[in-house]
Amino acid sequence: MIDKTVIKKATLKDVDSLLGLENKTFNFMLWSKLDFINAVNNKEYLVLTLKIKNELIGFMVARLGKDECEIENVAIKENHRQKGCADRLVRAIIERATKLKCKNVFLEVATNNLPAIKLYEKHGFKKSYTRKKYYGDIDAFVYALECI
Ligand SMILES: CC(C)(COP(=O)(O)OP(=O)(O)OC[C@H]1O[C@@H](n2cnc3c(N)ncnc32)[C@H](O)[C@@H]1OP(=O)(O)O)[C@@H](O)C(=O)NCCC(=O)NCCS
Repeated sequence: MIDKTVIKKATLKDVDSLLGLENKTFNFMLWSKLDFINAVNNKEYLVLTLKIKNELIGFMVARLGKDECEIENVAIKENHRQKGCADRLVRAIIERATKLKCKNVFLEVATNNLPAIKLYEKHGFKKSYTRKKYYGDIDAFVYALECI
């Protein structure tokens, strides 16, 4: 299945499917349609889609600053999880950040989100500190990876 997936930069045509997956995945701190449109149109953002044929299976959004890259949003369709989709997207973001000579890639993850924590640790991200009550009542760990 993973062999059939294709990673592409999102276009405005993808916004409705991105929003649909966002709404199915999260129930708070949701990105709006305008957030996705702005990210797709903004050169500082990299919005990657992972598709099989034309079906959106997952996405990852990163903000590429001068020195650092922040992974801001990521979701994989529930029935396609644990098949290596997020692995491919994380690798693609790290590659891009390294090419752009970013010093590091960082992100916030809810302290109770074990699948995401395992994903980032697998890719070498190290926990740097905790942001208290970042997601409502839930704390967030800030993870960072130094680009080589
Ligand atoms: C977190 C998420 C993006 C992972 O996507 P995925 O495509 O299922 O992940 P992959 O199949 O590529 O797995 C890569 C690694 O992540 C970790 N992982 C993924 N799902 C896991 C689970 N349910 N339990 C433990 N570890 C898990 C493992 O380390 C895995 O590597 P391995 O298969 O070699 O053990 C997905 O669960 C998701 O969309 N969750 C809801 C949205 C979300 O939490 N986003 C992250 C916000 S920071």
